[in-house]
Amino acid sequence: MENNPYKPEIAVIEKIREETTGPRAIKTFTVSFQDEKVKKSFTYKSGQTAMLSVFGKGECMICITSTPTKKGFLEFSVMLQGKVTSALHALKVGDTIGVRGPYGNDFPLDKWKGKNLLFIGGGIGQAPLRSVYLNALDNRKDYGDITLIYGARTLSDLAYKEEMFELEKRDDVNVFLCLDWKFGKDGIIDEEAEEGWVTINRKEPAKTKPRKGTSRFTGFVPEVVTAVKPSPENAIAVSCGPPIMIKYAVANLKTLGFKDDQIYTTLEMRMKCGIGKCGRCNIGSIYVCKDGPVFSMSQLEKIPKEY
Ligand SMILES: Cc1cc2nc3c(=O)[nH]c(=O)nc-3n(C[C@H](O)[C@H](O)[C@H](O)COP(=O)(O)OP(=O)(O)OC[C@H]3O[C@@H](n4cnc5c(N)ncnc54)[C@H](O)[C@@H]3O)c2cc1C
Ligand code: FES
Repeated sequence: MENNPYKPEIAVIEKIREETTGPRAIKTFTVSFQDEKVKKSFTYKSGQTAMLSVFGKGECMICITSTPTKKGFLEFSVMLQGKVTSALHALKVGDTIGVRGPYGNDFPLDKWKGKNLLFIGGGIGQAPLRSVYLNALDNRKDYGDITLIYGARTLSDLAYKEEMFELEKRDDVNVFLCLDWKFGKDGIIDEEAEEGWVTINRKEPAKTKPRKGTSRFTGFVPEVVTAVKPSPENAIAVSCGPPIMIKYAVANLKTLGFKDDQIYTTLEMRMKCGIGKCGRCNIGSIYVCKDGPVFSMSQLEKIPKEY
């Protein structure tokens, strides 16, 4: 059927990078469309998503983690979760998948020109952020300071490791990485998670005085936000990750003076059609697949707390 919105385009897996291992392993797939015409005409914006299908298994919504400034391929980072994501993880280079999209809204990078950008990510939440900060870094002169705060439970849970370590070396982006505290039988152990990962003052993170040039911390992401003390002046903050991380990171940003309209996040409701037809993802009158997934905190204040 012509113009069938559910018909995916066929894409070939060109590369697979194992980001993390274990029961919630993350793999990044680089894919390109088989049809040269589609390859040339497919456009997307940072923050948008696509429905990926593994033939005979099903579909799942995944954000596009590559940047539209790099053409000819798409990247998706997929965390092992259930049926479809397991089937995706079982695929090899050269296998094909279905891709339909792009869907949803995007981060308003054009509106943010001239502003300082702060990205706060945790775990797989770094995937939607990656498209935005790589895009901003490819248009570096359009933005003020760019700061990345990214945390994971352990060093091996940190995705995009090599890329983050390369970004740490650049002087036009501030990178702060963190690993969660180690837990012992009596609770949190107050020591470095890995050699060289400086411990944050846990009782009063704001009093942490890291050595100049220190960018690797042992601590929770929201505490690192407080320790880094980003200024709200002319700034936008984007936070994606586990809901508990977002909750405390946003609270700490507000303590630093950030307002609701300066803070953005993405919502992840269960999705089926991805195009506003099935009603699976709605919150009140909003369809997250169409009207989201990107929302500012001031937008979220106005909708029911069903997410
Ligand atoms: C807008 C959007 C963007 C997303 N981007 C990414 C991404 O970049 N990378 C990534 O790894 N995942 C992403 N996800 C989540 C991804 O879509 C789900 O993990 C995937 O659909 C699970 O499919 P499955 O068949 O493997 O799991 P299933 O077999 O369907 O489910 C396994 C378990 O996961 C739970 N689950 C499934 N989907 C969701 C969901 N959306 N939210 C919460 N729990 C869920 C189920 O309740 C069940 O417990 C995104 C979701 C949305 C809505
Ligand atoms: S996923 Fe069907 S309406 Fe949003």
